Amino acid sequence: MTDFPSLPTDFVFGASSASYQIEGAVDEDGRGRSVWDTFCDVPGKVANGDTGAVACDHYHRYAQDVGLLRDLGVDSYRFSIAWPRILPAGTGEVNQAGLDFYDRLVDELLAAGIAPAATLFHWDTPQALEDAGGWTGRDIAEHFAAYASVVGERLGDRVARWMTLNEPNVVTMLGYALDVHAPGRGLGYEALPVAHHLLLGHGLAVQALRSAGAHEIGIASNHAPVWPASDSDADREAAQVYDNLWNWTFADPVLLGRYPVEGMEQGFPTYRDGDLETIHQPLDWFGVNYYNPASIGAPGAGSATEELGGVEVPAGLPFENRPLAGYERTDFNWPIVPEALAELVRTLRGRYAAALPPVYVTESGCSYHDADPVDGRVADPKRIAYHDAHLRALAGEIADGADVRGYFAWSATDNFEWAEGYKERFGLVHVDYETLVRTPKDSYHWYRDLIAHTRARG
Ligand code: NOJ
Repeated sequence: MTDFPSLPTDFVFGASSASYQIEGAVDEDGRGRSVWDTFCDVPGKVANGDTGAVACDHYHRYAQDVGLLRDLGVDSYRFSIAWPRILPAGTGEVNQAGLDFYDRLVDELLAAGIAPAATLFHWDTPQALEDAGGWTGRDIAEHFAAYASVVGERLGDRVARWMTLNEPNVVTMLGYALDVHAPGRGLGYEALPVAHHLLLGHGLAVQALRSAGAHEIGIASNHAPVWPASDSDADREAAQVYDNLWNWTFADPVLLGRYPVEGMEQGFPTYRDGDLETIHQPLDWFGVNYYNPASIGAPGAGSATEELGGVEVPAGLPFENRPLAGYERTDFNWPIVPEALAELVRTLRGRYAAALPPVYVTESGCSYHDADPVDGRVADPKRIAYHDAHLRALAGEIADGADVRGYFAWSATDNFEWAEGYKERFGLVHVDYETLVRTPKDSYHWYRDLIAHTRARG
């Protein structure tokens, strides 16, 4: 018998995706434009000039994709809802045809015995709202809550788990501070109020979902354990600044009702008393997206550029991202450090103690530039090793008492990897972007066997 990671028999195995990365059909059934449609149209923003216009054509092929998930045996499937399909202008008129699509998807999942897990915002802000300032303004938080209410009313009876936001730190840093992701504003530190508006949107959306009768509400929060590049005071201080910025600015308000730096909120021009209480809603669970740790040091004298969130930025920041030596890397050049996932779980337990709800890993995965299928097979042993090692790391923490209840592999299928376009492949299922043919990879078969094996032990 194969030696599989030993996980609780009721552990939730899942797979994840996001609307713009898979759906395509950007002009169909009344969908409005999103910031990603606009960003992809700007030459040079996305590798190879790729766009999400067709992507995996999941909008038309969702039944086939659900069939693949059913055969995989996952307990739950995480997808996101495209705000501009539901409210083409972001606010105002509801587009029934957009709601109908997710209604069909949810019913298809339920018929396949798969618990739907829906994210309300996985980065596709309606362009009309961006034109009015996007997440730099406070109003968008209210619009987001109104959207949450519409979706909650329609799907709240059938969606098993909800996430308000996906990775608000990435939106703030890569989309607003830098211009690596849509909307590409490049505001530097001026982007920080964006964090507050996203978090406020989260709090208001939790309230809206609950009023609509939705259950099991959480968030998908990206975390990178931060390792000081050395023991020097300068490197440790720089690492602390980065840790607060990348990790705790986004999780502390949600779980503790405060920012990690005392009084930080007073620096936000739109801050109002009571906001932190609104953000600090009781959550049923906390979702963690994990990929790798960050090695952070003090800025080197004379360095002209540095790295933030994996991208080069102009120098002048109080920290510098250093390459993490000594680890194997994926084809995306991300270091593979499963023990940092275990460390993250321990850090969350220590930092939040009783304030930490049950944890789900809402994303974990790796990109390898897999070869095209040969005789219907895609051999991806490194992806198997990646998931195996990360699940073993979690199993160790669970044995130590951590309340980690599930793992959603990123991603179900290969898809549009944002600024990297289609060259990065994270899927358990290979997608041929010419023919749109899906081919389960070896990792898919491995995951299926692991799920079946874990259940059989019950
Ligand atoms: C996190 C994001 O949520 C997802 O959209 C992205 O594709 C993966 N990380 C991989 O970069």
